Amino acid sequence: MNLRILARISVFSLLVVAFGAQVSLGGTAVVEPSAADRGREALTSRSFLKPEWSLEIYERVASLWEDKAPDPNTDPERYALAFARRYGLHPAPFPNDGLPMGLKRSTDPTTGRQGLQVDCLVCHGGSIGGQSFVGLGNSQLDMIGLYQDFFQADGRPIFFTGFTVNTVRGAVNAGQMAAVLISLRKPDLSRRLIPVLHGSKFPETDVPAWWNIKYKETTYYDGRTDARSVRSNMQFMLGEKSREQFEELEPTFADILAYLNSIEAPEYPFPIDAELAVRGRSIFENQCAKCHGTYVDEPSYPNLIIELDRIGTDPVRALAPSDLLVSHYNSTWFAEEYPVDELMTGYQAPPLEGVWATAPYLHNGSIPTLEHLLDSSSRPDRFRRPPSTDFEHYDTDRVGWRVEVLEPVSAEAAKRDRDRSIFDTSRYGLGNQGHTFGDALSPDERRAVIEYLKTL
Ligand code: HEC
Ligand code: HEC
Repeated sequence: MNLRILARISVFSLLVVAFGAQVSLGGTAVVEPSAADRGREALTSRSFLKPEWSLEIYERVASLWEDKAPDPNTDPERYALAFARRYGLHPAPFPNDGLPMGLKRSTDPTTGRQGLQVDCLVCHGGSIGGQSFVGLGNSQLDMIGLYQDFFQADGRPIFFTGFTVNTVRGAVNAGQMAAVLISLRKPDLSRRLIPVLHGSKFPETDVPAWWNIKYKETTYYDGRTDARSVRSNMQFMLGEKSREQFEELEPTFADILAYLNSIEAPEYPFPIDAELAVRGRSIFENQCAKCHGTYVDEPSYPNLIIELDRIGTDPVRALAPSDLLVSHYNSTWFAEEYPVDELMTGYQAPPLEGVWATAPYLHNGSIPTLEHLLDSSSRPDRFRRPPSTDFEHYDTDRVGWRVEVLEPVSAEAAKRDRDRSIFDTSRYGLGNQGHTFGDALSPDERRAVIEYLKTL
């Protein structure tokens, strides 16, 4: 991995030097930003949606909290921490008007009114060990808690979607949101009064890390969308944008995709037993690489989608899009260039770079650590997720999150339970079965593979 990064850095600096020289020959010593630079700037500094809530909501929402909140004016730092803990947001690693990553100041173009909105990073911005990363899936987010509190504090009617957004923190139902929004548009994106009744029921899922996108030819957990599709990343604006506005924004989203393809995974920050990792590497290359790729010397990624009966993980997400939803989506502007594959196969075997930082594992986040993933008999069925991503909750032996294992309850009781710190594998789409490829490893071999995975 180091060699590869080095190679990339040097190619990059050569380009910058060459390009910079060219520009300075012309008299100005300014280096034009690359598409990826423009994409990062657009993603972190612009809001693409009209304000949803008033600006004051960031402070006013504390009146709903059970515990007394720190004063946002005299003690803004502690207030920010309490706010971030409650809704599962992380400090922004870029200038963001004092707001956590995922919230943005936004201006209504017609009225000039300012307010707040969420952006991609509410789901795609995370932290680990006190450091925030753009592109790390947010494993703490309580999306429904945030929406309910913000609507209530804004004096608005109770927030209602008609589907489950999340029963547990860190999971989110982006699939159903997109399915509902596209069902309200015609192929030319004009609005329909009666939605397409496509009958799809997506589950809540984990959020994939953006730094692996550069290896993928197809994206989303089911691998049915071409990774070059810019428009598929624009679906979240279907609530308000017109066809013309989408077309206008497409070049910006092409830049954003270039940025996503440039993100690198953070390196494992603790010591690694190099000898053990070398042993783990050969086991990995024998037993895992055919699906997950190789990461040394010449990295390769086979881009395989594994049939449901072979992978055996919870099938709900893969089966969620109905044929009617797919054909409707494929009839719209979004799919003109890259239609969604009409055939459902199963789940894409993801690249594993930075996998140390992306717990919990599998598409539904049902598995707290790599050790649990590679020994299916040890997986807990009901557990409490940690309250933060600080390293005190991180397990360097098993690699992933320390969770509090809870006694199983009946499926009925799990359904009624409103405690969103609890992950219950009996809920819709949250099963922790399947991917049993590590079960045959001896405990020593398993330890070696885990040590190797830390190096990716
Ligand atoms: C509400 C949370 C949420 C928001 C907001 C969101 N995403 Fe996502 N994103 C997800 C989830 C969840 C997935 C995985 C979906 C699946 O495959 O079922 C995903 C998948 C993706 C993927 C494919 C990744 C892969 O490896 O397969 C890309 C690219 C992406 N999102 C980009 C964006 C961009 C750009 C934005 C903002 C314009 C955005 N997302 C906003 C939750 C979100
Ligand atoms: C037959 C193909 C196949 C083999 C062999 C395989 N995997 Fe996987 N792996 C997958 C698929 C597919 C997924 C995604 C499943 C899902 O999310 O439901 C996955 C998921 C994972 C994940 C979770 C990634 C994440 O971000 O959540 C890890 C880690 C992983 N595999 C490691 C391994 C290791 C280590 C081995 C070898 C012992 C291995 N896999 C063998 C197909 C395979």
